[in-house]
Amino acid sequence: MRNFITFEGCDGVGKTYQTRALKEYCQQLGLDVVFTREPGGSDIAEQIRKIILDANNSAMDDMCEAFLYAAARIQHLKDIVKPALSAGKVVFCDRFVHSSYVYQGLGRGLGLDNIVALNDIAVGDYMPEFTVFLDLSPEQAFMRKGGADKTDRLESVDFSFHSKVYQGYKSLIQANPDKFEVIDASGTREQTQALIRQALVRRGVLPC
Ligand code: TMP
Repeated sequence: MRNFITFEGCDGVGKTYQTRALKEYCQQLGLDVVFTREPGGSDIAEQIRKIILDANNSAMDDMCEAFLYAAARIQHLKDIVKPALSAGKVVFCDRFVHSSYVYQGLGRGLGLDNIVALNDIAVGDYMPEFTVFLDLSPEQAFMRKGGADKTDRLESVDFSFHSKVYQGYKSLIQANPDKFEVIDASGTREQTQALIRQALVRRGVLPC
């Protein structure tokens, strides 16, 4: 879907900082863009986010989790993404279907095909024009973050999970390189931000 751009990467890679910095830059330029995130992004979807990420819900079935992500996605698309795209705005979304593919399909082992099928039902044609992938290994990402946040149910899972997630992203990129802008996120925050902006200029999303 034209003008729909998503951000992906492993936990702790600095997506939150980078999307915030990009938002400020777009505001300085006076661009009419929307920044949003998943899971969440709208009232109902944020309520679903709380259930998914609640550390007390460790008994949650993996497939239940996958459906909750998809459910939150349907609502978020309806409330935020579709109206903004219809109004001609550029939408930047922090995480989208690729997170489900790699975290649920590969990390949790539910099967990529199953999670792709589930999300095809959830999103229909609303696939991103392209995805900015912040490339940093889970080892580097966790070092940078100073270790996992134990109050977050997903961040307290074992490390091999995150390696599967990272390798999953790499396979998706290899299978469809034109749909990704791979950004080396191993430098300083400022360097990473500069690389993101350059990629968005190349793609014609930001002015030169
Ligand atoms: P965040 O920390 O980027 O806000 O994402 C919250 C967590 O949710 C993160 O560990 C990745 C995970 N996640 C999935 O497992 N599947 C999904 O579909 C999405 C959107 C996020």
